[in-house]
Amino acid sequence: MCNSNAAVRRVSVGFPGLQAWLLAAVGLLTPLAILAQAHDPGVRHAATDGGAPVPLTGITSNEMPYFQDGARRFQIEEVVSGAAPTQGNGLGPRFNSNSCSSCHAFPYVGGSSPPVNPLFSIANAGGAVNHMPWFEARNGPVREARFVQSANGVPDGGVHNLFVITGRSDAGTCNLPQPSFFPAGDPVSGRGGNRNIIFRTPTPIFGAGLIEAIPDSAILANQAANAALKQQHGVRGHPNAIQGGNVNRSGNDGTITRFGWGGLQRRDGHLQPVVPAGARGERGLPGQLSNS
Ligand code: HEC
Repeated sequence: MCNSNAAVRRVSVGFPGLQAWLLAAVGLLTPLAILAQAHDPGVRHAATDGGAPVPLTGITSNEMPYFQDGARRFQIEEVVSGAAPTQGNGLGPRFNSNSCSSCHAFPYVGGSSPPVNPLFSIANAGGAVNHMPWFEARNGPVREARFVQSANGVPDGGVHNLFVITGRSDAGTCNLPQPSFFPAGDPVSGRGGNRNIIFRTPTPIFGAGLIEAIPDSAILANQAANAALKQQHGVRGHPNAIQGGNVNRSGNDGTITRFGWGGLQRRDGHLQPVVPAGARGERGLPGQLSNS
């Protein structure tokens, strides 16, 4: 019930609709303007402020079902097995939560961590025997844990799932142990504990699809434009790089990556891998792209 092959067999989910939903969701991010005289206009307001994310104006009738399907899948609650019609059989064996929208929840679905930490109602759901890691506070943000180094001292950087499905009534004989995150520090600030752990809180994903939709050619053209003027003012840079200034090309399709931890290579930096990788990482689901 909890080896990775079993998980791969059990679920075959893809999230094409999610990408369309992210692409279409109107949100906080707006296209960056290159301004000679930078002036921060502050938070921009829209008529749709104060409600759930809406599709972009002009979305076609072909695209709308993808938007709706993505929004629906984003909110599906995953269980290990025996899902009700509105649920999915895709939880675990290791997981951080049981739905995208549990963490990306505030102020609306697609946003960031809600005021009350949802993990307290998820860690032991279904009879799971997880202990709450010390860095999760009831009224604190959801924190994911990245390890600086693996146990053997090799640089790690990856997200380590907080929970296991062990003990859940739908998890059969799974007896995976929950990892240890000790020594403990302050649960609210996250300080003072295990120095090998770095924390990440949920990024709002409104409008992320708009950034994904910028063609690589536009990024490279912007980089190359006005070279003399830029040099004069000390403006320089390169597309998202891993280390040493190399352009970070996605291992999947060779395109420039845009998303992730400090602009690095988390989840390959693209929504297409991001979405299934989000499913693998957060809910323990294998993703279509990596398994098909
Ligand atoms: C346990 C909480 C949690 C759940 C559940 C979760 N996320 Fe996230 N999400 C995060 C955190 C934390 C980050 C920021 C990660 C970082 O910067 O390292 C993030 C970032 C993202 C990003 C921005 C890109 C990135 O890599 O920084 C996208 C897109 C995203 N999540 C999509 C999803 C999708 C789709 C799902 C469901 C399949 C999901 N998330 C479920 C916590 C969660």
